[in-house]
Amino acid sequence: MSGTVSASGSKNSSLPILFASILNPHPIELKRVPVLKDIETTLTLLRGVGADIERVGDSAKVSLPKLTSTEAPYELVRTMRASILMLGPILAREGVARVSLPGGCAIGSRPVDLHLSGLEKMGAELLLEHGYVNAKAPSGLRGATIEFRMPSVGATEHLMMAATLAKGETVLKNAAREPEIVDLANFLNSMGAKVSGAGETEIRIQGGTNFRPTKYEVMFDRIEAGTLLLAGPITGGKVRVEKMNPKDLGSYLDILKNCGVMISVGTDFVEAEAGKNPRGVSISTEPYPGFPTDLQAQLMAYLAQVDGESEITESIFENRFMHVPELNRLGANIRAEGAKAKIWGKHGCYSGATVMATDLRASASLVLAGLSGRGKTSVRRIYHLDRGYEEMEKKLAKLGAKILRSKE
Ligand code: UD1
Repeated sequence: MSGTVSASGSKNSSLPILFASILNPHPIELKRVPVLKDIETTLTLLRGVGADIERVGDSAKVSLPKLTSTEAPYELVRTMRASILMLGPILAREGVARVSLPGGCAIGSRPVDLHLSGLEKMGAELLLEHGYVNAKAPSGLRGATIEFRMPSVGATEHLMMAATLAKGETVLKNAAREPEIVDLANFLNSMGAKVSGAGETEIRIQGGTNFRPTKYEVMFDRIEAGTLLLAGPITGGKVRVEKMNPKDLGSYLDILKNCGVMISVGTDFVEAEAGKNPRGVSISTEPYPGFPTDLQAQLMAYLAQVDGESEITESIFENRFMHVPELNRLGANIRAEGAKAKIWGKHGCYSGATVMATDLRASASLVLAGLSGRGKTSVRRIYHLDRGYEEMEKKLAKLGAKILRSKE
């Protein structure tokens, strides 16, 4: 596969940015909000609290002068864990909120204790009842110093948003440093907030924001870009992904180079080409700028067809190796035990088969393996893909894949 594609707007940035729009009574205009199932779920949740939304292509205009409800119901929250991010903004603006607990998910237990204990430190009174968090802060939230036991992307975003309307200053220590956190901070600041230090381990937020209208363009999707880049080397070709900032990929490009992938970088593009000397690696997923867990399955699909041994340790989520049996059905030789997966790579290992997607990133790894294999691969349950990849089959077709979407 060879050619050039453009990165879409970031899903993981758009979600907190859309939830943060709940804080602001003035109109907000967003660009580069990808057309994805999770975004549509978020817009439905926002409409549920009274937002007026105009959605055209990848732009979204949100206007919420007055909340008509302070609740996020189970039916929507259960389909997308990030919905818990509604709790803080509604509570900060209205002094009361009722949001369903998201429950388990396919890639591990994923608790939300850091979100809840942080809000409590800011003065929220929380009652867990009937599967819902009932929250109140009758005299408003107040600034606090909160040190996370581990850097959590969601909890950092959540408390950053809530803190913009608290009384006084909030300091978040051991904060997550992902580029999406910086994007959210930039968005909050564009509408009048005072957030500093995003992208570092300590973030400071001055409360009591007097919000104003804003127009904002969401950053590119670094996980989509990282996935598309692999389509080149995994098929012996060369792929360029444009409209992206290579710096936001953290250590990912260095890891690809260590596997023998040839990488060229421009100001707003990256090119990945199959190298002459592909080789295995031993790596571990890490918080940013380390190797992202959201690209673990895709890199594994690549490593399985590189001659030699590799090892991947998943240190962020438990139970995030469900793609292993499916990749093995396609011809890979991988054994997962606990948090480690051992890969005995063999060039040309893949041959087409019918496989089942288990979660969002796992499904992308199956697509990559299928593209590299001999014959036809059918990936079932592609609703997982539609949660996070905008027009994936069109982008891959542009790069030369024979790929089509069909109804089961
Ligand atoms: C976000 C991303 C997800 C990515 C993950 C890690 C979004 C919408 N999702 O998820 O794609 O895989 O970051 O980069 O942006 N934890 C707790 N208690 C909490 C919160 C988290 O123990 O209250 C643990 C989690 O179980 C996990 C670790 O912290 O082991 C990191 O999770 P976190 O960074 O919070 O991930 P999400 O924000 O859910």
